[in-house]
Amino acid sequence: MHMTVIGTGYLGATHSACMAELGHEVLGVDVDSAKIDSLKSGVVPFFEPGLPEVLNRNLESGRLNFTTDYGEAAEFANVHFLGVGTPQRRGSYAADLTFVRAVIEDLVPLMKGNHTIFGKSTVPVGTAAQLQELADSLAGPDTNVEIAWNPEFLREGYAVTDTITPDRIVLGVNGGDSRAEEIAREVYAIPLSQETPFLVTDLPTAELVKVSANAFLATKISFINAVSEVCEAAGGDVTALADAIGYDDRIGRKFLGAGLGFGGGCLPKDIRAFMARAGELGADRALTFLREVDAVNMRRRERAVQLTRKLCGGDLLGHRVTVLGAAFKPNSDDVRDSPALSVAGSLSLAGAEVSVYDPQAMDNARKVFPTLNYSPTVEDALTGADVVVLATEWQQFRDLDPATTGELVRRRVIIDGRNVLPVDQWQAAGWDIQALGRNL
Ligand code: UDX
Repeated sequence: MHMTVIGTGYLGATHSACMAELGHEVLGVDVDSAKIDSLKSGVVPFFEPGLPEVLNRNLESGRLNFTTDYGEAAEFANVHFLGVGTPQRRGSYAADLTFVRAVIEDLVPLMKGNHTIFGKSTVPVGTAAQLQELADSLAGPDTNVEIAWNPEFLREGYAVTDTITPDRIVLGVNGGDSRAEEIAREVYAIPLSQETPFLVTDLPTAELVKVSANAFLATKISFINAVSEVCEAAGGDVTALADAIGYDDRIGRKFLGAGLGFGGGCLPKDIRAFMARAGELGADRALTFLREVDAVNMRRRERAVQLTRKLCGGDLLGHRVTVLGAAFKPNSDDVRDSPALSVAGSLSLAGAEVSVYDPQAMDNARKVFPTLNYSPTVEDALTGADVVVLATEWQQFRDLDPATTGELVRRRVIIDGRNVLPVDQWQAAGWDIQALGRNL
């Protein structure tokens, strides 16, 4: 099949390459010529394990190409995926739909014949219907454009696997004489032949599935982090507690990792946009608990700063703190709303001398927080530290040897902000190890 993917950010670049990998002829489209040039030359402009290989394989096969030209996109295919960003609007909780609307405004007037646009971006419920109205108002007399919604559930770090072998495919259609389901069955023929669940719903349900999934995940993390606060007050151990409740398969252990909490380009903005949209719909009371989910999450960052201050004898001024990690999670170079970078920044603003090291996210971190000291190696970052804070659980940090690490620092004091270190081994090497939600 011929198809275009509009927007070649995280979602779109992955979707383009993976659709070509599934055998389709794909044209990726973006208004950012630097991004397009990079992808054309086989360079993924962000860190995502496995994606460079898929990109290059499919560029070489000739099935994958990129352009900045919407006219070319309108001619190349009758099937289009829309994967542009929907960031948090400045000064508000709501999602900014400027980029999504701009795609329809720029592309639809160039289309001829029958076209189907599958929205993949995370949008407030009701957006697909509004975009359909917009498309209808812009389409020429011989053109018919259908908007369907096909939310994306990929996780950074696992984007290729999540796209090629998704755990479910959701499609929202507008009833009537929709062609979208038939087309989607052809697009996803390979995963569907492997018995991937395929759920066809109305448009609002499909839009809500995505935000509900992310709100649930955020709630699960904040639940365990709220219990973590009680564990700290009562002398319990949140990791043992999570293991114990996680054995109940109605609960499950996944996303019960207590620590610095969630960040990234999705969970924080999506719960806020969900609350904002519920408010607009007059259902604001339904989601007020998400405010608490957000608050619990942000408190974990403050708690890490407070604990570091305590371990520095009550004053951060003049103390050297090493923050291990800047990305919002391991296997990613994404620092959007990163708990690690937020903690590093707060410590620095409170007077600590902060050294940061991350295996992949240094360049992005430097752009957001240029005033921190970024060390070229983990050893360099650790040298002379009064307190070490493990903020992103990269394998490299989990594998640190407590004895050799101890030789580098000034004082053997570490905060495990992600509850991943083998406490016994660190204690045996003479470290004072502290963790969120545990009394060690
Ligand atoms: C998320 C959703 O998982 C994905 O389905 C959706 O498409 C996009 O948003 P992503 O942002 O890549 O994916 O990251 P995810 O793996 O969900 O982690 C989000 C944050 O939660 C990270 O900061 C992570 O460190 C944190 N987290 C995760 C915890 O604090 N504890 C956990 O147990 C799990």
